[in-house]
Amino acid sequence: MKTDNLAIKDIENLFHPATNLVVHEDTDPLILNKGEGIYVYDIHGNRYIEGLAGLWCNALGFGNESLVETAANQMQKFGYGSLFASKSHEPAIMLSEKLIEMSPYQEGKVFFGNSGSDANDTQYKLFTYLNNALGKPKKKKFLARKKGYHGITVASGSMTGIPANHKLFDLPLPNFFHTDTPHFYREQTSNETEEGFVARLANNLEQLIIKEGSDSFMAMIAEPLIGAGGVLIPPKNYFPVIQSVLDKYDIPLIDDEVVCGFGRTGNCWGYETFSMRPSSITIAKALSSGYIPISAVIVPEEIFEPIKKASNEVGVFGHGYTYSGHPVACAVALRTLEIYEELNLFSHVVKITPKFQERVNKLGTFEFVGEARGIGLIAALEIVKNKDTKENFDPYGKVGKQIAEICQKNGLIVRAIGDVIAICPPLIITEEQVDEMFDILEASLTEFEKSV
Ligand SMILES: Cc1ncc(COP(=O)(O)O)c(C=O)c1O
Repeated sequence: MKTDNLAIKDIENLFHPATNLVVHEDTDPLILNKGEGIYVYDIHGNRYIEGLAGLWCNALGFGNESLVETAANQMQKFGYGSLFASKSHEPAIMLSEKLIEMSPYQEGKVFFGNSGSDANDTQYKLFTYLNNALGKPKKKKFLARKKGYHGITVASGSMTGIPANHKLFDLPLPNFFHTDTPHFYREQTSNETEEGFVARLANNLEQLIIKEGSDSFMAMIAEPLIGAGGVLIPPKNYFPVIQSVLDKYDIPLIDDEVVCGFGRTGNCWGYETFSMRPSSITIAKALSSGYIPISAVIVPEEIFEPIKKASNEVGVFGHGYTYSGHPVACAVALRTLEIYEELNLFSHVVKITPKFQERVNKLGTFEFVGEARGIGLIAALEIVKNKDTKENFDPYGKVGKQIAEICQKNGLIVRAIGDVIAICPPLIITEEQVDEMFDILEASLTEFEKSV
C-alpha cells in the first residue's frame, strides 16, 4: 500500500534494479533520505542500522564531512576531465600511485571504471587483448563459479553464476564456464571431509579444463569469499589447491575484490585472508566507501607490457569510459583511502571481529539457522526448515524475505539472498553498535520463530 506522494511517483516512474517488478507495485518502498554513521533514516523519520553497508560498500558510514568537502572542492576546481588521448589530471595520477602501492605488484597499472561490472568487463577485454597480442588466439574461454557474483553487464553477467541474472537475458555468453561453489555446508557429499571436498572440486575443475581444451582458457575469476551469492566462505586450502590446477594449464586467476577489498575480512585484501595469488585485481565499492561511483582494474606490469606493445600496432588502446578516472571520483577515493589509514580502520576491523563473530555464532543456536558463518565484519545465516537434513523452507526465498522485513520493522536493514540473511555493516561500527545490531537481529529471529 502506497502511503505518500513519493511512493506513488516511485511506482509510476522508477524502473528498479534487482527487484520483483510486480511485487514492487504493491510494496511501500523504503525511501531513505538521511544517514549518519551506521544509521540511515527514512522519509518518516524512522531510524535503521544499515546492516549491509548499502550494497556492501559503505565502509565509513554516512555523512563523512571530509569526503563531502573533498568532492565539493574538486568539483569547484576541475569537475570533469577525461584520461583519453594522453590527457590526465592529478586525482587520477595520485590515486593510481596509491593503489599500486597498496597492491601486491611492485610495478603495475590502474585502469579506472565506474562500477564493479564494467571493471570486470575490462578484465575480460584485457585478457582477450593480451592473448591476441601474445599470439594465443585459442585461449578465449573463461572460467567462473556457480553462485559467484561479478556484475550484470554482458561479460561480467556471464561470469556471474546466479540463474536470475541469466534467465531471459540469454546469458551466459558462449565460452563462459562455471565450476563448483566452494561452500562445504551445502555442497559436501555425505561423510566427505573438507580436504576431500576441496580435492573433489579441484578434480572437477581439472576435468572441465581438459574437456574444454587444456590450452583454451584465458582466465578464471573468483571472489575471495562469494558475497552476493550468499556470503560463502571457502575452505582454508581451497585457493592454493585450485590455483595449482590453474597454474598447470597456464590460467591466470582474476581476483574480484569488489566486496572483500579494503578491510572487510580483516586484512586490506581478501586475497591475503584466503591465500590467493591474484594475477589481476578488480576493485570498486569501498574504494570510495560507496560515496561516488568508481572502480578499477589493477594489473601487474607483465600483463600491461604486451598490451602496450599491441596498442602501438593497432594505433590506440581502444577501450575506455567517458568517466574512467573521473576527477571528483578519484579525489573522493583517494581521500577515502587516506581516512582508512587515519582511522587505522583495518586494525579496527580486527579488534571488533571477535565480538561480531561471537554474536554471529550465537545465532546458530536457533533451530532454523542451519549455518551461521562469517569472517571479519561480514556474515550470513542460512535459514533451513530442518537443521539435520538441511531441508529448505518451501517456497525457497519466502522466509528470508519475511525475516528481512521483520528486521526492517525493528530498525535493521539486512539483505535476504533467498533464505540466506546477509550482514555486512559499515566498518566503522563500534562494539556497542555490534551489540545493538545483533540484539535487533536476535529479537527479530525470535519474532520469526514464533510465527512459524
Ligand atoms: C564481487 C562483486 N563483483 C562485482 C560486482 C558488480 O559491481 P557493480 O554493482 O558496481 O557493477 C559486485 C556487486 O555487488 C560484487 O559483489
